[in-house]
Amino acid sequence: MTIRTGKPSKFVPSDKAAFVEFVAAAGEVDRAILPRLVDDAVALVMLFERDELIGTAAIKTPYSAHRRGEFAKANAAENADAFPLELGWVVVHSEYRKRGHAPELVRAAVGLVADQGVYATTKTPRMLTILSECGFKSLGKPYPSFLKPDALLTLLIRPAGG
Ligand SMILES: CC(C)(COP(=O)(O)OP(=O)(O)OC[C@H]1O[C@@H](n2cnc3c(N)ncnc32)[C@H](O)[C@@H]1OP(=O)(O)O)[C@@H](O)C(=O)NCCC(=O)NCCS
Repeated sequence: MTIRTGKPSKFVPSDKAAFVEFVAAAGEVDRAILPRLVDDAVALVMLFERDELIGTAAIKTPYSAHRRGEFAKANAAENADAFPLELGWVVVHSEYRKRGHAPELVRAAVGLVADQGVYATTKTPRMLTILSECGFKSLGKPYPSFLKPDALLTLLIRPAGG
């Protein structure tokens, strides 16, 4: 297995296209705007088994209005500006799950920006555990997901240097 990390500009177009397809296939993202969001990310993390992409993660810079909105919904608006970056697109290929790849991807991603505050949101119980193991702490109260209102999102933060 090989893990590759870096700015989007460091990856060849075919790798970025594979990243977009992989994340889009996992669902709950707007496929139309995903390529631009991937290009705008601070860093991408890609895990390969030989030449096959089997895992992704990224550090993103969400629009400040979006970020502040998420923190406000979690009842933690006053903390929003300390966490300019967002961890996201953590996906492991279904045939490679339950082997600890998700924490490996999360650690690789946050390790690239250890000097900055990072937040994440999740509705997946397993991700809550993984994020806790990787230095995140939940903040505020869970709130309904915009894309899936019957699911509750938890906001988690990882302080700079954490
Ligand atoms: C959520 C997701 C990223 C987890 O990826 P993963 O690599 O399977 O995560 P892990 O291997 O750390 O954990 C999965 C389970 O396997 C277990 N596990 C981890 N390593 C193991 C090992 N060596 N042997 C046996 N079990 C193991 C974990 O304890 C965990 O068990 P639990 O669900 O009962 O708590 C993956 O399921 C996924 O891609 N889902 C779809 C996308 C998604 O929901 N992403 C999160 C968006 S916030």
